[in-house]
Amino acid sequence: MPLKLNIVIVSTRPGRVGPSVAEWVHERALAHGGFEVELVDLASFELPIFDEPKHPRFQDYQHDHTKAWSESVASADAFVFVSPEYNYFAPPSFVNAVDFLFNEWNYKVAGLVTYGGPLAGARAAQMEKLHLTSVKVMTVPEGVGVPMVFKHIDEQKKFNPPEALEPSLTAMLDELAKWAGALKPLRGG
Ligand SMILES: Cc1cc2nc3c(=O)[nH]c(=O)nc-3n(C[C@H](O)[C@H](O)[C@H](O)COP(=O)(O)O)c2cc1C
Repeated sequence: MPLKLNIVIVSTRPGRVGPSVAEWVHERALAHGGFEVELVDLASFELPIFDEPKHPRFQDYQHDHTKAWSESVASADAFVFVSPEYNYFAPPSFVNAVDFLFNEWNYKVAGLVTYGGPLAGARAAQMEKLHLTSVKVMTVPEGVGVPMVFKHIDEQKKFNPPEALEPSLTAMLDELAKWAGALKPLRGG
């Protein structure tokens, strides 16, 4: 079975730039060849603020939105989160989506592509790494930060990445493939 990588568009707001950046990540991940790749739009799950009566460890979900999100996360061996930074922090859509599940995350690996103003979403990346450790997701230090993201999106909403980011993305994908394979026995694979 090939390793499966889910690229998750974290921003859910109307008018977001997330899909533009994620499309670039998606293209490069397909070209990388180390994974079966799926582009996942968090907005499409329409998750409300966490509303399950039981702790996610029990996986006794009451809501269809949780079941759908559970199925998506369970299907992956690795993740790339394409995420903005809001108020020097991880966006609430990210925190909420992580909290909805537990077992489905365990012993998987994630890389972060963040974007924003001059600091390229670096503070969000650090917060997201910390949060992911609590659901037993290993995060790779290799990552991509896109500074001044709006300067790199054209009128057709296409993201034209600064050249310097390409090797960072490749390095992150290489590491994700290594870790996803190495963690497989812990996931019972
Ligand atoms: C509520 C809010 C808070 C923001 N805070 C930050 C921030 O802390 N750092 C930053 O670099 N950009 C910040 N921005 C600007 C975002 O980088 C920019 O709006 C970007 O397009 C957000 O990603 P999205 O369009 O995919 O949602 C903020 C934007 C919003 C809407």
